[in-house]
Amino acid sequence: MRVTMIGTGYVGLVSGACFADFGHTVTCVDKDAGKIARLQKGEIPIFEPGLDELVKDNVEQGRLFFTTDPSAAIRDADAVFIAVGTPSRRGDGHADLSYVYAAAEEIAGLINGYTVIVNKSTVPVGTGDEVEAIIKKTNPSAEFAVVSNPEFLREGAAIGDFKRPDRVVVGTTDERARDVMRQLYRPLSLNETPIVFTERRTSELIKYAGNGFLAMKITFINEIADLCEAVGANVQEVAKGIGLDNRIGRKFLNAGPGYGGSCFPKDTLALMKTARDNNAPIELIEATVRVNSARKQKMAQKIIDAVGGELRGKTIAILGLTFKPNTDDMRDAPALDIVPALQDEGAKVRAFDPEGMNEAKHMLKDVQFATGPYDCVQNADAVVIITEWDQFRALDLDRIKDALKTPTVIDLRNIYRPDEMRAKGFKYVSVGRA
Ligand code: UDX
Repeated sequence: MRVTMIGTGYVGLVSGACFADFGHTVTCVDKDAGKIARLQKGEIPIFEPGLDELVKDNVEQGRLFFTTDPSAAIRDADAVFIAVGTPSRRGDGHADLSYVYAAAEEIAGLINGYTVIVNKSTVPVGTGDEVEAIIKKTNPSAEFAVVSNPEFLREGAAIGDFKRPDRVVVGTTDERARDVMRQLYRPLSLNETPIVFTERRTSELIKYAGNGFLAMKITFINEIADLCEAVGANVQEVAKGIGLDNRIGRKFLNAGPGYGGSCFPKDTLALMKTARDNNAPIELIEATVRVNSARKQKMAQKIIDAVGGELRGKTIAILGLTFKPNTDDMRDAPALDIVPALQDEGAKVRAFDPEGMNEAKHMLKDVQFATGPYDCVQNADAVVIITEWDQFRALDLDRIKDALKTPTVIDLRNIYRPDEMRAKGFKYVSVGRA
């Protein structure tokens, strides 16, 4: 089929490349001419494992195209996906839908023949109705259907999540549109991936309810971790013990510094606002947002306590800045709160991250960036692990100890074991393990 993807960010680029890999002909459209030029040269503007080969292969096989001009791409398309950003609006936390509405208007003027318009971006409940109204108003004679098809892609695992999803959710009651969506996802249905057909608003809410629940699950185990520290229990063993109950499930029970990223923070806020606006407040999500936000300061205090309560004149080494490993994304990363809190207490901060430093340079000030983990810890008074990159999981601990001024490690991702670290002579502080 002929697919047009409006927006070439994390979602648009991965979705477009994967649809091309399914055998469809895909044209990715973006207003940013520089970005399109780089994509046409095979340069991928984001760090997503495997995306460069996937794009290169499909461009070479003539299934994937990039352009700044939407006209031909939309006129000839069977399905046009809206995959533009829906950032949190400054100040009130509602999703900013201006890019979605602009895309809808642009599409409306270019539709030729029956076309399915697909909201892939995460959009508040009711946005599909808005998009439909905009298109009808802009082009009353257009033959189209607006479908909700939320993405469930994790950064760093996006291609796998697209090609081997737990389910595909499609929100429309239009039978013809359902057929188009079945054909689009046919390669998946061949391996029995369930396609859940709902009506549009239900589909839009599924996305928010899913992310809200995952954010709440993480926040739950983070609070249990604090209780574990108070009563001398081990949160990793609690997580294992409850996670084996298949009504709970083992995933997303890793205690840490709190969730970040481009989705959970904005989606929990948007869900909270939508619920309040509709007089059905979700207090569990309101508590999740509040607890997660406070956690970053709690982590800074944990570090301050670990180095004896006084940071003035001390150097703190930070390993990991991105909101999670295998991404270069710094959006809402815990480091963005933790580092300034340490600096406010007088600490000098030196940091290393395998992929995030280019972005972090614009978001953190007065941080010295190191060339690697050992360079980072040289003569530091303590080292803090904030992101669980694989390369931090098997550090030469003797070398780390020799390099540190004082052998203090604060491990916010529980990468190491307390007994082993103490046996090596470290003062070792972690999350939820006495
Ligand atoms: C998330 C959802 O998982 C995905 O389905 C949705 O489409 C987009 O948002 P993403 O934000 O890329 O994906 O990353 P994810 O792996 O979900 O992690 C989100 C945050 O939770 C990260 O800050 C991560 O460190 C944190 N996390 C995750 C934990 O603290 N503990 C866990 O056990 C899992």
